[in-house]
Amino acid sequence: MSIRLADNAAIEEAGQLIRAGALVAFPTETVYGLGADATNGRAVAAIFEAKGRPRFNPLIVHVPNLAGAESIAVLSKAARQLADAFWPGPLTLVLERRADAGISDLVSAGLDTLAVRVPAHPVAQALLAAADRPLAAPSANRSGRVSPTRAAHVADDLTDRVAMILDGGATAHGLESTVLDASDADAVILLRPGAVPREAIEAVLGQPLADGPSSDDAHPTSPGQLASHYAPNAALRLNVREVRPGEALLAFGDDAPPTTGPSVNLSASGDLVEAAAGLFAALRDLDRTGAATIAVMPIPEHGLGEAINDRLRRAAAPRESLSPPSRGEG
Ligand code: TXA
Ligand code: MG
Repeated sequence: MSIRLADNAAIEEAGQLIRAGALVAFPTETVYGLGADATNGRAVAAIFEAKGRPRFNPLIVHVPNLAGAESIAVLSKAARQLADAFWPGPLTLVLERRADAGISDLVSAGLDTLAVRVPAHPVAQALLAAADRPLAAPSANRSGRVSPTRAAHVADDLTDRVAMILDGGATAHGLESTVLDASDADAVILLRPGAVPREAIEAVLGQPLADGPSSDDAHPTSPGQLASHYAPNAALRLNVREVRPGEALLAFGDDAPPTTGPSVNLSASGDLVEAAAGLFAALRDLDRTGAATIAVMPIPEHGLGEAINDRLRRAAAPRESLSPPSRGEG
């Protein structure tokens, strides 16, 4: 494994590695992805292997543009509206798979749908061009762990499991893409809150989003719905106003309680965009202090707060509910 500054030479090499069936970690505007040629079943299998991910978890296919999406999936009218509004960008659409898509069946884990996204990050776009293949890419973390927002996070989790890590710096959004099921012409369903807030999507659709299955659903249609997920080693205590001895503090806003222990403020000014961008790095940093528990201040539920609270609830969920090593999705 080598971390390489994502310059043209490194991206060209990374493209060759992808075409040869290897795994390359790369930055997107949301989190780092663990990429493989989506048309190569062996390469896709290697993603599951590297992540230690349960086989039933389908992957997102990254394509350079709308035409790339149309060559593998069928876009409903609503899907096209959403693509026009948010692509390239942090929105994933679950769509009906085209029969001639040429995408490995492993990517969608046997479903007849495909999750498709057009990333905006210039390094992701350059890698798609260099590889000249659709890229299957989950977040580049071991399954059930916090998603990586820096190249060093990828190295922490996947050293020796990936051929190259393209370093494009810290990711802008810091949260995964919003996943919508747009495969049904009648209703668009929110499967995973993410970097595009619900309000922005509903404004484009002109109607409220339907909610996906609840997180305790025994058969989640989007395994990002599994209860325990995005988990640091430390336990999380949510909605706290005071810190107990021995706890680390994850603060938000200008009224953080006093503490002598480790603490990170996601945004002293109460900015949800800033908070989202720093969330996963903060969880990793506080985890590294060895604190048994991370106490988390309340985060408002509007805008990006919905996705932030979703990740925090999953990180706080009891871990026993899923047996290791295949706890949760990644
Ligand atoms: O921001 C992101 O989306 C990042 C970057 C790398 O693009 N990727 C990411 O991938 O978060 P992953 O694999 O960690 O999460 C993919 C989510 C999971 O919740 C998965 O269950 C859902 O998308 N998904 C994928 N294909 C699906 C399908 N056909 N039907 C329903 N859900 C699907
Ligand atoms: Mg993930």
